[in-house]
Amino acid sequence: MTWLIIVALFFMICFAGVLLAGAPYLPTLSPQVKTALQLSGLSPGDTLIELGCGDGRVLISAAKHGYKVVGYELNPLLALIAWLRTRRYRQQVRVVWGDFWRADWPAADAIFTFLLPRYMAKLNKKCIRYEHKPVKLVSVAFKIPGQRPAKQKNGVYLYTYR
Ligand SMILES: C[S@@+](CC[C@H](N)C(=O)[O-])C[C@H]1O[C@@H](n2cnc3c(N)ncnc32)[C@H](O)[C@@H]1O
Repeated sequence: MTWLIIVALFFMICFAGVLLAGAPYLPTLSPQVKTALQLSGLSPGDTLIELGCGDGRVLISAAKHGYKVVGYELNPLLALIAWLRTRRYRQQVRVVWGDFWRADWPAADAIFTFLLPRYMAKLNKKCIRYEHKPVKLVSVAFKIPGQRPAKQKNGVYLYTYR
């Protein structure tokens, strides 16, 4: 019984703890992943960063397209699941357990994210300061306030930073 409580507490801390730093876990649906990767306009060999990679589904899809991809995930359980699920793509996929707000993002061609409206202005600032421009930002469901997307489709928005 004690073990059960400890395990339940661990799960609660993992999932609820993330709420202090960002959006809760909600997986992107396959059609939206497909649209997002289409809008990103990447070619095989290009690099994608995923901010909050959840269970790794976008990482897998990106790897199948031949992209290199770096996924940040704060929730240790999800980071472990993403790492395990992407192990056959180890040459292309890197899973980083940590807070993407505090990370120095590597050089990339596009950034994928699915957060919450309240983080979009902060994300915009971080993209403006991103040193490896040009870069495209693909956001599922949420727009950047005051910015006109370069493209949009099925609730996925594309922004370009030069
Ligand atoms: C809405 S879910 C999207 C998951 C995944 N991108 C997908 O599309 O299936 C947001 C994810 O971001 C993670 N997350 C939120 N804030 C974060 C942060 N500051 N650093 C790293 N990961 C974060 C959450 O744990 C969650 O897995």
